[in-house]
Amino acid sequence: MIVAQITDFHIGLPGGRMDETFRTAAFLETAVAHLASLEPSPDVVLATGDLVDRGLPEEYERLREILAPIDAPVYAIPGNHDDREAMSEAFADRGYLPGGRFLHYAIDDWPVRLIALDTVIPGKIGGELCEERLRWLSDRLAEDPDRPTLIFMHHPPMKSGISGMDRHGFGAGAPEMGAIVERHPNIERIVCGHLHRPVTARWHGAVLSVAPSTAHQMGLNMLEGAKQRIVMEPPACHLHLWRPDTGIVSHTSYTGRYETPPPVEPS
Ligand SMILES: [Fe+2]
Ligand SMILES: [Fe+2]
Repeated sequence: MIVAQITDFHIGLPGGRMDETFRTAAFLETAVAHLASLEPSPDVVLATGDLVDRGLPEEYERLREILAPIDAPVYAIPGNHDDREAMSEAFADRGYLPGGRFLHYAIDDWPVRLIALDTVIPGKIGGELCEERLRWLSDRLAEDPDRPTLIFMHHPPMKSGISGMDRHGFGAGAPEMGAIVERHPNIERIVCGHLHRPVTARWHGAVLSVAPSTAHQMGLNMLEGAKQRIVMEPPACHLHLWRPDTGIVSHTSYTGRYETPPPVEPS
C-alpha cells in the first residue's frame, strides 16, 4: 500500500496574491502531474491542510479542479488557513467528511487504517486538540488496537526547533495526545503539514514526520528568536510505503523539475 501525502497548497483566487507571489496553483498542478507519473501509483492521497489560503468557497472550487486528475481517493483535513464549512461543502460529494463540529474521521478500506485529526482553532495560526477531539481519537484507536494505523493531522504536536514556527505551534492537548499514542504501539506513523519543510521526530514512541509544501517552504533557522523567512526550496510530496514485512517506510519525492543526471549507473 502506498499512501501519498501532499500538503500546504495555499490555493488562492485566479490571478490573486498567491498566484503572483508563490504560484501555488501552478505548483499544485505540477504535484498532481507528478503523482500521476508514479509507478506504482499511490493507493490513496492525503491532503494535510492549508488546502487553500483564505478559506473561500471559490478557492475550494479551484482546488477541486486542480485535484480532479488524481485517480486515487483523496482524503483532506483542514489547516489553519482552511474554513471547515467551506471545505465541507466543497468535498461533500466525496462522503468521507463528517457532519459534526470537527472534520475528523477514520478510513478502514485499506491494510493501514487512516485516522484524520482536526487540529484547527478558528482564527488562530497554531493548533490544538480539545477534550472532545482527544476522546474521539482515543475511542477510534480502541476500536482496532492491532491494525497498523497512520494518523494524519495538520499541526505537528511537537516543537520543531524552528522558533519562528514554534511560536505559533501546538497549544492544548499535545501531552494528552502523547499519552494516548503511547498506549497504541500499532500507530505506525503520525504525518503532519504546517511547517513547510521536511522534519522527522520520535514522539511518544511513534515516528512523526512532516512533509514539505507543494509550493513555498519555510527557511531552516534554528537560532532562538530568528525571524521566519519563506524560501523557494524544492517542493516535494511524501510517499509512505507500507508492506507487512517492513511496516511504513517513508520517502520524499520531489515534485519540481530537476536536472537529468549524467548516464552513470550507481555502483
Ligand atoms: Fe501552510
Ligand atoms: Fe498551517
